[in-house]
Amino acid sequence: MDKFIIKGGNTLRGEVNIDAAKNAVLPIIAATILCAGKSTIKNYPMLLDVYVIIDALRSLGAKIDINRINRELIIDTSDITDSGVNSDLVRKMRGSFLIMGPMISRFGRFKISFPGGCNIGTRPIDLHLKGFKALGADINLEHGYVEVSAKKLTGAKIYLDFPSVGATENIMMAAVLASGETIIENAAEEPEIGDLANFLNKMGARITGIGTDTLKINGVKALRGISYGPIYDRIEAGTFMIAAAITKSRIKINGVNKEHIKPVVAKLTEMGIDFKFKGQGVLVDGRNELQSIDIKTMPYPGFPTDMQSQMMSLLSCVHGTSVITETIFENRFMHVVELKRMGANIKIDGRSAVIEGINKLNGAEVKATDLRAGAALILAALEAEGETEIFDIHHVDRGYVEIENKLKGIGAQIKRIKS
Ligand code: EPZ
Repeated sequence: MDKFIIKGGNTLRGEVNIDAAKNAVLPIIAATILCAGKSTIKNYPMLLDVYVIIDALRSLGAKIDINRINRELIIDTSDITDSGVNSDLVRKMRGSFLIMGPMISRFGRFKISFPGGCNIGTRPIDLHLKGFKALGADINLEHGYVEVSAKKLTGAKIYLDFPSVGATENIMMAAVLASGETIIENAAEEPEIGDLANFLNKMGARITGIGTDTLKINGVKALRGISYGPIYDRIEAGTFMIAAAITKSRIKINGVNKEHIKPVVAKLTEMGIDFKFKGQGVLVDGRNELQSIDIKTMPYPGFPTDMQSQMMSLLSCVHGTSVITETIFENRFMHVVELKRMGANIKIDGRSAVIEGINKLNGAEVKATDLRAGAALILAALEAEGETEIFDIHHVDRGYVEIENKLKGIGAQIKRIKS
């Protein structure tokens, strides 16, 4: 397992370029299954999770060319069959469960191993299955497998008990070729849902209500392959905004959608960080004295849970008392014990963490427990006195493209030690 060694204290400067959004690209790659044809995904992020879902589609029979030079994926799904996907891949990344919706749309049935939970929570799929059932599918759960089958899928009205991102995406993809109209109420509104819906509409689907909590899908006969460039990654952008703030630096971030990042910018502005947006870029100035604040993670357009751990690193170094409440996942505070090894003063009280800001964190040996916890430790290490070693950084490689090179490019002292 690789590790990072980071020497804290550097001021950052210059510009960093943001990649396409992992959480948009994963469902979009799954959606290419919906037609027997060729699609091109432009500017794809070279992330571990993207290669896992590529392997999943290849194990189904898709032919996928990875063009690293011009950053394009050419996906030909003509020869896909429903013979089953490699179970390890599904267990490795729950996002591959997003192939279920497209597969039952195209083949009327599919069987896949139950997607594992992960460190941040049990990650149930009950809302996905509730949607498939409403569309007329039969569900069979046995021996650790989920089998969904439907002679035909018929449009239905579905209310999501919770605005689940994955369930909204899977049900939308199961509905695009169903007969009649499907309405998804209390749908998730994350920008990545809108990007998937735009991709599907470009393929010939008929989805309206994009960007709201009620999506209407009128089933069509067939879809066709297209070329598409996904949206920028708002969580990567937010992570670099906090890198500027935690090191009291000023940097330019290229590849930001002002609307998508608004919930994060609103809270950072409240703390005293300054933003100047221009086109698809933003100048972030974190040199002011910052104020402590309270954060509560909520479904979009609330503060994103994927920015919670990074925000905790920042608040650990800001004078005053801050409270972070995590309402989305039941176990997303594993970075707390690692931050405390660096001297942070944090107390967990149920789903809240109370943070007393301190002057300076200290470098230490810490472990990335999940993707965003790893990002939080990198941010803390940029501020800390001395050297920090972060182990198990494969978690970070799932969601950040070559983060060490991007950080080096703006003046951080970071190196990757390959195991
Ligand atoms: C997506 O996960 C993202 N992953 C996550 O990003 C993100 O944290 C999450 O949405 C919330 O924004 C991808 O898009 C690949 P959910 P997903 O279904 O779809 C409960 C990252 O760091 N729930 O919205 O799995 C569930 O237990 C990752 O990039 C049910 O109860 O999230 C959780 O409490 C981490 N039943 C809540 O909803 C279900 O059937 C949010 O889950 C499904 C979900």
